[in-house]
Amino acid sequence: MTNILCIGAGYVGGSTMPVFASHCPEDRFVVVDINEARIEAWQSDQLPIYEPGLEEIVRQTRGKNLFFSTEINRNIAEADIIFVSVNTPTKTFGQGAGRAADLQYWEKTARQILENSSSSKIVVEKSTLPVRTAEAMERILNSNGSGLHFDILSNPEFLAEGTAIRDMQNPDRVLIGGRETESGRKAVEKLVGLYASWVPRDRIITTNLWSSELSKLVANAFLAQRISSINSISALCEKTEANISEVANAIGRDDRIGRRFLQASVGFGGSCFRKDILNLVYLSEHYGLPEVARYWEQVVLMNDYQEARFASNMVASMFNTVAGKRIALFGAAFKANTSDTRESPALAVCRALIEERADLVLTDPHALDNACDDLKDLGGRITYEIDPYAACKNAHAIAILTEWPQYAQLDYEKIYQSMVKPAFIFDGRNLLDHKKLYDLGFNVYPIGKPPLTRLVSMG
Ligand code: UDX
Ligand code: UDX
Repeated sequence: MTNILCIGAGYVGGSTMPVFASHCPEDRFVVVDINEARIEAWQSDQLPIYEPGLEEIVRQTRGKNLFFSTEINRNIAEADIIFVSVNTPTKTFGQGAGRAADLQYWEKTARQILENSSSSKIVVEKSTLPVRTAEAMERILNSNGSGLHFDILSNPEFLAEGTAIRDMQNPDRVLIGGRETESGRKAVEKLVGLYASWVPRDRIITTNLWSSELSKLVANAFLAQRISSINSISALCEKTEANISEVANAIGRDDRIGRRFLQASVGFGGSCFRKDILNLVYLSEHYGLPEVARYWEQVVLMNDYQEARFASNMVASMFNTVAGKRIALFGAAFKANTSDTRESPALAVCRALIEERADLVLTDPHALDNACDDLKDLGGRITYEIDPYAACKNAHAIAILTEWPQYAQLDYEKIYQSMVKPAFIFDGRNLLDHKKLYDLGFNVYPIGKPPLTRLVSMG
């Protein structure tokens, strides 16, 4: 039996460890966190995160070979392998503020591991970190003078929220980076062995530490780049007669380009894309490559532009003012099937419309609590409403900000009747049937397609 500990019971730790536990019944998995309320939630029927399929796996494994605990020190002492998945937000202060990763939790965790260890261990970086963090971790851990040896591995996370369990059960690849020393190779083999309980061997890639760390940043940068690329073209489509769905389909049919991640939207969100790209930008600058830094920075700037453009199109289409107008915002989560609102474009749109003094009502099936927390500085200027029909009552406009499939199933005729006329729909995810909405009487503004409106253009 191997004792495996995960420090950090967030989205990453909380969705990977239950899957490990279900495939490795001989081993013991403990997930710890400094946040007591979070651990209590993991022990209850009301899990702290919403992720399809997660509840079932937790129910099967919890109390058998999966445990949630706040006793960090004791569990460190007992562990053979320690995964670290604590958060690594972007620095808000000092050198690299706004771009570099804030590594204080990481370093604190490294020291805590050292203080509580009386045997050698494998420490696995699961958090996304700047390249060469593993090296710093290695120095801290192996500077102990007690004869203990720590092998540091990098095992980046490629899970997408909303499909995290499916991705973990059936990954495209698992990436494990380690040192090319005898003990490093043994540690890599140990972790490969754990994954090989259910992942085919040819999908487990082993590399050196830095390639592994960098690959995570680059994978997210490439994914985000595709979205910024298609979003930049959506702006062009709106000025011409081209249609972004037709363009995406036409280019995506080329195998070399591929169909996925070409959905134009109000912007990308999530805890990773922005942070990882800014990390790449910082790293490039640090190594004296300003041209490389500017190249990748543009992916983030294009996303900021797309969010701002969406909000200003709303204002422009609604006769250049939304002050005092009730607007129903559909979706707070950064994508469908998650309660996560980190970096959600919905929040950016909310803030932009509040600046314009709109009277906002925000609805979302799973993310309202998080949104309310993120926007608490705006006080009573936003109403939160779980029922989309109630949100639309007396509204001038609806904006679709998250592609929850249930929003495509609503009775828009009933909604239209309850709204102020002329009624507007701004579809930031191209989720709805635009022609049908237009026929019901709505003025419809998709992304990257000509608007369907009976109003005479003001511009
Ligand atoms: C986080 C990072 O955001 C991501 O970059 C990285 O790849 C993995 O870790 P996530 O699991 O989504 O992803 O973050 P979050 O849900 O914030 O969970 C982190 C948890 O670590 C929190 O529950 C926090 O309380 C805990 N934590 C943080 C500790 O237990 N100890 C600490 O010192 C700091
Ligand atoms: C991402 C990576 O996909 C995953 O591999 C990594 O481990 C963590 O970061 P995640 O942020 O959970 O996962 O979601 P993802 O599906 O990548 O979507 C990110 C954002 O891009 C969402 O806001 C989504 O709505 C948006 N998006 C995605 C688009 O706007 N268009 C697309 O075509 C795809």
